[in-house]
Amino acid sequence: MVKEKIPCAVFISGRGTNLKAIYNYSKNNLSKIDLKLVISNKSNVPGVKFARKNKINTKIINYKNKIKAENKILEYLKKYNIRLICLAGFMKILSKTFIKKFKYNILNIHPSLLPKYKGLNTHERAIQNKDQFSGCTVHIVTEKLDSGKIILQKRVKIFKRDNAESLSRKILILENKLYPKAINKLISSL
Ligand code: GRF
Repeated sequence: MVKEKIPCAVFISGRGTNLKAIYNYSKNNLSKIDLKLVISNKSNVPGVKFARKNKINTKIINYKNKIKAENKILEYLKKYNIRLICLAGFMKILSKTFIKKFKYNILNIHPSLLPKYKGLNTHERAIQNKDQFSGCTVHIVTEKLDSGKIILQKRVKIFKRDNAESLSRKILILENKLYPKAINKLISSL
């Protein structure tokens, strides 16, 4: 059972609603994480603005050269003693080398009921296939895209009137609740 708060980094590329949810969770006395670092491959996105406004250390990473970018990130992770990474809308795929070098857990949130619809355009695909349900999944990141152990999953009904946009809105609300719960669950199991 882990008692001390785990130093955590969130990786983003844009809007940052999941970052916000994780930040709010980290501020709760009972939370198990200390949100120490935000990594973004994009500057000037809402997630970065949120992080700076709330005085979280924020680093913008130039991804022109992926190897250099990942080495830079690893330096920051070391500097802040990061023990958990949460990917939250981070649009870059981490290399096998990176995943091996960072010896702790990496979590990701994906807007589908994995193992269904790995990759992009999940809502479009669920609607096109006339699925009755979709949802979101928090899972461990491994070398295989969107395939690691599932920590938590939440489903939502797809109605006839739903389109990709309305479904994405509904699922985002679930995501923002699910991510902190999944972090809590993972850390409790360590
Ligand atoms: C979410 O839908 C998440 O599932 C996906 O990217 C989106 C990020 O949203 N991986 P936000 O930036 O956290 O608002």
